[in-house]
Amino acid sequence: MKLFALSLVLTALTASAGVAASGDPSEGAKKAALCGACHSPNGISINPLWPNLAGQKAAYLSKQIKMFRDGERIEPTMQPFVVNLTDEEIEDLAAHFANLTPCP
Ligand code: HEC
Repeated sequence: MKLFALSLVLTALTASAGVAASGDPSEGAKKAALCGACHSPNGISINPLWPNLAGQKAAYLSKQIKMFRDGERIEPTMQPFVVNLTDEEIEDLAAHFANLTPCP
C-alpha cells in the first residue's frame, strides 16, 4: 500500500516536471535582457545577494518565478520584473536559464 502511494506521488512529480520542461529556451533568451541586469546575461551573478540561475533545474526556476509573480515568495526587488509575465513566458525564461552553463 505504501509502495502504491509512493508510485502515485512519483507519477505526479514526473508529470509536473514534464509540463515545466516545455519552455522554449530561444524564446526565453529574448525576454531575459532585464533579468541579466542582476542575474548577469550568462546567469552567473556578480552580487552575492543575487542568485546564480545558470544550469538550475527549469522546473524549480519556473516554480520560483511564479511564486514571486503571485506574491507567495516575497522579494521587492524581483517582483516588478516578473509581475506581468504569463505562465508561458515564465516557462521560456526557466528553460533559457536552465540551458546555460552552471558556475564551475
Ligand atoms: C533588481 C535585480 C533583479 C532583477 C532585474 C531580476 N532579479 Fe531575480 N532575483 C533577484 C534577487 C535579489 C533574488 C533573490 C531573492 C531572495 O533572496 O529570496 C532573485 C531570485 C530569483 C530567482 C530564484 C532563484 C533561486 O535559487 O531560488 C529566480 C528564478 C529569478 N530571480 C529569476 C529572475 C528572472 C527570470 C528575471 C527577469 C524576468 C529576474 N530574476 C530579474 C534580483 C533580481
